Amino acid sequence: MELVLMDAMPLLWRRRFLSSLLLFLMLPSLFSWTPASSTLEQGAILQEVKESGWITQNIPSWVAGTDPCVSSWAGIDCDTMGNVITLNLTHVGLNGPVPNALGGLTSLIILDLGNNKMCTVCGPWNHVSGDLAPLANLVKLETLILTSNEISLSSFPMAVLRLKKLSDLRLDNTLIKGEIPVQLSTLSNLQYLYLGNNSFTGTIPGGVLGSLTNLKELAIWGNALTGLIPAELGNLANLTYLNLNKNNLYGGLPPELGKLAQLQKLLLYKNKFTGPIPDEWRGMVNIQDLEANANSLYGALPQWLLKMPSLSMLQLSNNQLRGETLSILNVSTTPGLKFLHVECNYLEGVKPQSQNITAFFDYNCWENESSLDSACVRPLNCMNFLLSINNGKCPACPSGQHLVNTTTCICYGDPERSSSTFRFAAVIGVAVAGVVLVLLLLLSYFLWRARHKTKKQVLVSHPDYFETEMGGSMRRASGIQYWEVPRGVHHFSMEELMKATNEFGKANEIGQGGFGKVFVGNFPDGRTLAIKRAGPANYSSASGLVQFRNEVSLLSRLHHKNLVQLEGFCDDGGQQILVYEYMKLGNLHSHLHGEHQGKDIVLNWYKRLEIAVNVAQALDYLHSFADPPVIHRDVKPSNILLDDNLVAKVADFGISKESSEFDTHVSTKPAGTAGYFDPQYFLLRQLTTASDVYGFGVVLLELITGRKAIEFHCPDEESSNLVEWTKGKMEAGHGGIESVVDPKLEGNYPRELFVSLVELGLKCASFKRNLRPTMKFAVSVLEPLLQESERLPQNFSPSQSLPSSTSTSNMPGDIVSDNRNNRQILDSYTRIEMDTVLFPR
Ligand SMILES: Nc1ncnc2c1ncn2[C@@H]1O[C@H](COP(=O)(O)OP(=O)(O)OP(=O)(O)O)[C@@H](O)[C@H]1O
Ligand SMILES: *[C@@H]1O[C@H](CO)[C@@H](O)[C@H](O)[C@H]1NC(C)=O
Ligand SMILES: *[C@@H]1O[C@H](CO)[C@@H](O)[C@H](O)[C@H]1NC(C)=O
Ligand SMILES: *[C@@H]1O[C@H](CO)[C@@H](O)[C@H](O)[C@H]1NC(C)=O
Ligand SMILES: *[C@@H]1O[C@H](CO)[C@@H](O)[C@H](O)[C@H]1NC(C)=O
Ligand SMILES: *[C@@H]1O[C@H](CO)[C@@H](O)[C@H](O)[C@H]1NC(C)=O
Ligand SMILES: *[C@@H]1O[C@H](CO)[C@@H](O)[C@H](O)[C@H]1NC(C)=O
Ligand SMILES: *[C@@H]1O[C@H](CO)[C@@H](O)[C@H](O)[C@H]1NC(C)=O
Ligand SMILES: [Mg+2]
Repeated sequence: MELVLMDAMPLLWRRRFLSSLLLFLMLPSLFSWTPASSTLEQGAILQEVKESGWITQNIPSWVAGTDPCVSSWAGIDCDTMGNVITLNLTHVGLNGPVPNALGGLTSLIILDLGNNKMCTVCGPWNHVSGDLAPLANLVKLETLILTSNEISLSSFPMAVLRLKKLSDLRLDNTLIKGEIPVQLSTLSNLQYLYLGNNSFTGTIPGGVLGSLTNLKELAIWGNALTGLIPAELGNLANLTYLNLNKNNLYGGLPPELGKLAQLQKLLLYKNKFTGPIPDEWRGMVNIQDLEANANSLYGALPQWLLKMPSLSMLQLSNNQLRGETLSILNVSTTPGLKFLHVECNYLEGVKPQSQNITAFFDYNCWENESSLDSACVRPLNCMNFLLSINNGKCPACPSGQHLVNTTTCICYGDPERSSSTFRFAAVIGVAVAGVVLVLLLLLSYFLWRARHKTKKQVLVSHPDYFETEMGGSMRRASGIQYWEVPRGVHHFSMEELMKATNEFGKANEIGQGGFGKVFVGNFPDGRTLAIKRAGPANYSSASGLVQFRNEVSLLSRLHHKNLVQLEGFCDDGGQQILVYEYMKLGNLHSHLHGEHQGKDIVLNWYKRLEIAVNVAQALDYLHSFADPPVIHRDVKPSNILLDDNLVAKVADFGISKESSEFDTHVSTKPAGTAGYFDPQYFLLRQLTTASDVYGFGVVLLELITGRKAIEFHCPDEESSNLVEWTKGKMEAGHGGIESVVDPKLEGNYPRELFVSLVELGLKCASFKRNLRPTMKFAVSVLEPLLQESERLPQNFSPSQSLPSSTSTSNMPGDIVSDNRNNRQILDSYTRIEMDTVLFPR
């Protein structure tokens, strides 16, 4: 009877009426507890929520008018007082913004609106969206789960920050953007905080998260967070789970995390961390699972870590760890370990054996092991890796970072933020910024007055990165962003270039290639630069500009004495123009093949060796400059330019691309020139650093023989190809080294040295990729040869030969042994590849 009456009443009034009725009935207990509303009223609120259309599935047990606590409505739990304290709507197909009515369930302690995507028979998934405002009322909430919805906010939902009792907050995978808010520190009861797989930006707020000392689990993986891991996270004494993977975090791993004695699972993979695993981490005595793969960690693989009794899973693949490790991994040497991943590092010594441990050791620098052709291109023989990178010091920092600590090789992207001088700097900064701002305003006003054409920043789609499965990063264009002109390159206006080149006149044209025409430009400041202008066929509309600017950004970061330096660019009106340092003596191709009418320079044997070394060093730099490596894709003599001093520099990165990272080390777009192009490309459909090695091999043979990569006028196919021709000549009884070397040298060359060069050239131009050495290896062979031959006369007589290493008295011992060592290694490669070919010695 009462129920019938109720249905006729307006809802709001009905609720008031019932609560005042309840007030009377429950007066005694009021002193300790204030009921939000009666059970029946809460049932009515739930009905209202249901009828709002937010719940798309029928829930049969929710019968209007029955008591949700007594009639056991699905997804609802009550306390003994008849308060609805749990609402679980995980599998009812929620759709749209949270209805206001839900805010009436003020006694709720647990609210689960998440999606359980593991469950395949749970009915339609939830799609909760909007600003969550009604939830701000639910001040008793301790658990709020919104996992895998479409909240899609551009900043953290403010309603959530009102819920001071929260101990379990799950906002993972909800498409939220913005920074992690400082107000989060007011939720001091938090024990579980899941913010993973969103688009949070900015740095990890150390002061905020470090103050939430009740935290047991903290997950902020899969965001766009940058900066360092704050040392304050070391204050979270009760933390058992910390997940920071898949962000853009960088710098060294903080020793302070060693204080986390309760930590069981620490996930750091796919960031840009550098430096060693801190010794202080021995303090993580309960660690079971440590995953820091796909970073740039540098230093030894600590033995104490392998021996930690608690540690069962250690994943450190795709880093730059070096040194020796345990030779045997078994229950007695590594008591806890069940899984070990250290593939793709630079570990040395004897390859460890593992008993009853699943271990992955491939692609390191193990003794006597030649690398396999694989996804992870580590040096074929990386014994010299440490010696040849930065003079034996640290490997290159990830892009955008620089080295701040050379003893432990730690890189930082933003030095101001990384030290205690930050606050001081901030104070100064504010003062300076004020002054600068005024000046800038004045300046920009005048500039604007003068001309509003040459802007430093240009509106363009912002390339951000999304991950491929194994950690590679690909670019995708999204949103509109200001593209900042990279440091070190000049943004030329079309007007400037027109002036410098006599309006791209015929007289200034110095070459033409696949990309377009090349002009020489004389600039008012006295500089002469080469201007490479894409033909219309080479720039495509929409993605073209973004692609071009990505290219410019990449090129601007490459600096090497043997790379033709990018000086600037111009993209006015959709043009794609690259401005390079001018190489006066033009390309190597024309010098080798006498196409330099008039100003021909005959390159003597020493110059040729020097060019080979220069080119090898440049390619090695490209390959080891960064993870992912830069692949040139079109190594050939017309892309090797000579300056006034005949120093060779590698040019033409117009078609070079960053390869995708750890997963493949390949790029799939072919580019290149017949005769220099990796023959295994057609088999494998991938270009790798080994493709550049092939091109280099052909260039080396070309330097030696003076023949073209493909001689089109040759009668038979065998001898038209330079690699095949050289192989044939070097076979016993077919002429040997004398029949191979460029006749223009007139016998003026050190015979043995040239035999070595031919061996290296053929080795590099092996058909199979896994037989080709790395550029690093090529450099380690060539450099000592150059050093040795510095003492030789450049005008060699045919009868002279290179003195053997043992008879040289005044040479530093290490060079001798290094060279001999490399020669031995080279010999063994040669044997694998061409067991039928005997080199005359
Ligand atoms: N920075 C430079 N300084 C001097 N000359 C240059 C410079 N860049 C290019 N050239 C000249 O312009 C020529 C054409 O260069 P371009 O790269 O367009 O074609 P290519 O290298 O012959 O062929 P491809 O298009 O396959 O690279 C070069 O061979 C070289 O002689
Ligand atoms: C809600 O229900 C689902 C399915 O029964 C369950 O997996 C989940 O743990 C529940 N949520 C809470 C907070 O108990
Ligand atoms: C992370 O978010 C993306 C996009 O929202 C989604 O496709 C993916 O399944 C999510 N990953 C996990 C593990 O939830
Ligand atoms: C850690 O947890 C224990 C009990 O689990 C508690 O007594 C202690 O106060 C917590 N420490 C901190 C810093 O919150
Ligand atoms: C583990 O290897 C060590 C070193 O070779 C050996 O002494 C020990 O007996 C091995 N233990 C087991 C359980 O195999
Ligand atoms: C490895 O495990 C198997 C059983 O799983 C056991 O029989 C064997 O003895 C173990 N070997 C070592 C070296 O511990
Ligand atoms: C590695 O090679 C060296 C020299 O060739 C040899 O003495 C040694 O026995 C080899 N070691 C292994 C494990 O094969
Ligand atoms: C480099 O870092 C290590 C470890 O953090 C430290 O011991 C050393 O003093 C640092 N060196 C310099 C020059 O900062
Ligand atoms: Mg070129």
